[in-house]
Amino acid sequence: MPHLSQRVKDTFASPFRKFLPLAQQAKDRGTQVIHLNIGQPDFLMPKGSLDGIADDYLKFIPYGEAEGQMPLRNAWCSYYEKFGVRISQEELIITCGASEGIYFTLMAIADAGDEIIVPEPFYANYNGFCQMAGVNIVSLFSSIEDGFPIPDIESFEKAIGPRTKGILLSNPNNPSGKVYNLQMLKSLASLVKKYNLFLLVDEAYSEFVYDGFEFFPALTLEGIEQNVVVIDSISKRFNACGVRVGAIASRNTDLLQHIARYSRLRLSPPMLGQTFATRALKLPESYHIHLREEFAERRAIILKRLDQLDQVLYHAPEGAFYLFVQLPIDDSDRFCAWLLTDFSYQGKTVMLSPGTGFYATPGKGKNEVRIAYILEGNMLEQAMDCLENALATYPGIQKNKAYSMV
Ligand SMILES: Cc1ncc(COP(=O)(O)O)c(C=O)c1O
Repeated sequence: MPHLSQRVKDTFASPFRKFLPLAQQAKDRGTQVIHLNIGQPDFLMPKGSLDGIADDYLKFIPYGEAEGQMPLRNAWCSYYEKFGVRISQEELIITCGASEGIYFTLMAIADAGDEIIVPEPFYANYNGFCQMAGVNIVSLFSSIEDGFPIPDIESFEKAIGPRTKGILLSNPNNPSGKVYNLQMLKSLASLVKKYNLFLLVDEAYSEFVYDGFEFFPALTLEGIEQNVVVIDSISKRFNACGVRVGAIASRNTDLLQHIARYSRLRLSPPMLGQTFATRALKLPESYHIHLREEFAERRAIILKRLDQLDQVLYHAPEGAFYLFVQLPIDDSDRFCAWLLTDFSYQGKTVMLSPGTGFYATPGKGKNEVRIAYILEGNMLEQAMDCLENALATYPGIQKNKAYSMV
């Protein structure tokens, strides 16, 4: 057999999906698998958002413009106005999800061997995209014991070296649920200006903040217009993960024009998805008010159930829809696999993401898992029944560690 590249063999395995074959085997055995491993909410897509699309494309579906269709780019710019962001359509291009946006941006700002500073834990797939682009992650660790504080500005500054090209963060953060306050964003703005770096902010969860926390868009930061690049997505915002539409927004039009070289290579973002997204971005604010309320209720269910468990540590998320939880387990990969291979409770099990994938530092996240509270309450209760029973029977339980709530 011909040999595969070392590069592909070394590529990071996404923690959201690497155990899917085990989940399938569990399903084949007749076990119901409750998927809390991936951020794909079960809410219905906005009503009417697909009406008439078939008529628009009755004869054939053409390639669209590489940088995205103008009606969608305009709709996205108008949508940003609700956050106080004013940009024009040349300052935003459409991508196949935020995923492509992250990869294209890394490819455009960094050469192989360059460095990106990322506070950890971080969205796990950054590991893979940086690897694909040959970019080294310099991670800034924050611990669950301390409540995942956002690293202070001195730590960011200390991490800057001759090959640093930028800072990458998600706000609100997946998986920790932390939301960056304005003061922190302004400090980061001063830093990237001082060292002439890019500030890449992944705002896929901008609509989802709770408990009076406020989301501040990076595009409102003044004085660093050429440095800021926002990565965005409609996946979570409109319950449309499979539509595969995202965006890169930046006032640095030179950067966007260079990224468009990559856009042209893959020809066009999905046309049907763009038609959907253009409509969805025009929905009234009431749509998101409803979603936020629903997510807050789902979060409350998980928090209540976690409070009833022993030796469990978490920090109530301020935004997004994940809980990153420390459990009394020996190895989160082993535990998440075991849930699918060896465990069931009343014919069901729960699929979670192991914490290790959310760090660049080897060995971190070994006793942490990510729970996505993306299903309706009854399903979450059943998933938590499974987790509770699993912790009572898992052979790798670590009973003696002292845990305290944050
Ligand atoms: C922080 C963050 N960025 C990007 C993505 C990927 O988004 P998309 O579906 O638009 O590719 C996700 C998906 O979970 C995410 O959590």
